[in-house]
Amino acid sequence: MTDIKYRPRRSCLYMPASNTRALEKAKTLAADTIIFDLEDAVAPDAKQEARDNACAALQSGAYGDRELVVRINAMDTPWFAQDLKQACLSQADAVLVPKILNADDIAQITKFMEEQDASLTTKLWAMIEMPQAILKLAEIAALGAQQRLTTFVMGFNDLAKEMRADHDRAIFGSVMTQTVIAARAYGLNVIDSVYNDFNDPDGLTAECIQAKKLGFDGKSLIHPVQIETANRVFAPSADEIAAAEAIIAAFSDPVNAGKGVIVVDGKMTELLHLKQAKQLVATAQAIETLAQ
Ligand code: COA
Ligand code: MG
Repeated sequence: MTDIKYRPRRSCLYMPASNTRALEKAKTLAADTIIFDLEDAVAPDAKQEARDNACAALQSGAYGDRELVVRINAMDTPWFAQDLKQACLSQADAVLVPKILNADDIAQITKFMEEQDASLTTKLWAMIEMPQAILKLAEIAALGAQQRLTTFVMGFNDLAKEMRADHDRAIFGSVMTQTVIAARAYGLNVIDSVYNDFNDPDGLTAECIQAKKLGFDGKSLIHPVQIETANRVFAPSADEIAAAEAIIAAFSDPVNAGKGVIVVDGKMTELLHLKQAKQLVATAQAIETLAQ
């Protein structure tokens, strides 16, 4: 069964695993998660080299506490099986599989992973980027959560292409909401898509704020310059932490003992808000621990 202990995934930075300079640079970057890409960002002739680089990076121990994920090639490609096998044997924290269509894909991948090593700790992440997957979100999440799936990652470059739509954020609002709901219904993490225009910090900030409001854990990134924004926006703000601490303090005040609903800062506050406040403080603490 999936067991998800909270860890920050505010900033999930992709890099082509064929780019050794980027792999080197990543050792010094403040991204919570590094995604070594073997798929879209790697040309066919460089696939083998990229896989070797990613495995060497995984085994190097040079990336500190950063979570290390490998995005492998899709199931219908000639690279898939070897990518998956090598990523598992190199003990990636997770493999991210693109072009997932349905729950059966998840079952097949899980089976393959367990055949490599029954005691494998590597988790499965799924790209949500195909129209078929959007139609099957609940089934994918439900089955996946009983197996190795811990995380959905939105892929709007591919989804726009498949839909023959403009890559306009406005059209993805309902898909984002559906994906967060499916993920949370089964206890999965959920990461927003990339922002291609990496020289536009304001556009990135707006997307991060929107995604955070919708419940996303963090954002996929493509360039180091984007990390600070994602880390800042997806972390609880000082005001949010202060408000959460005020709720926790109010509920532990003896005058409120045994009460299910109280007033804090002029607002109705229930036990569910207490739970939410504790979660927010725990998130802030996990981020602080990571920074140490
Ligand atoms: N991860 C780590 N380091 C990166 C990086 C990344 N994604 N993108 C750039 N860098 C590094 C460069 O290697 C360079 O390092 P240096 O200071 O040692 O020379 C530095 O950051 C500045 O890079 P810059 O010149 O601004 O970028 P670029 O023009 O070389 O590359 C991209 C631009 C978009 C091609 C590149 O950022 C990239 O490949 N991004 C990831 C693409 C990807 O993985 N896509 C798949 C998911 S959609
Ligand atoms: Mg893609």
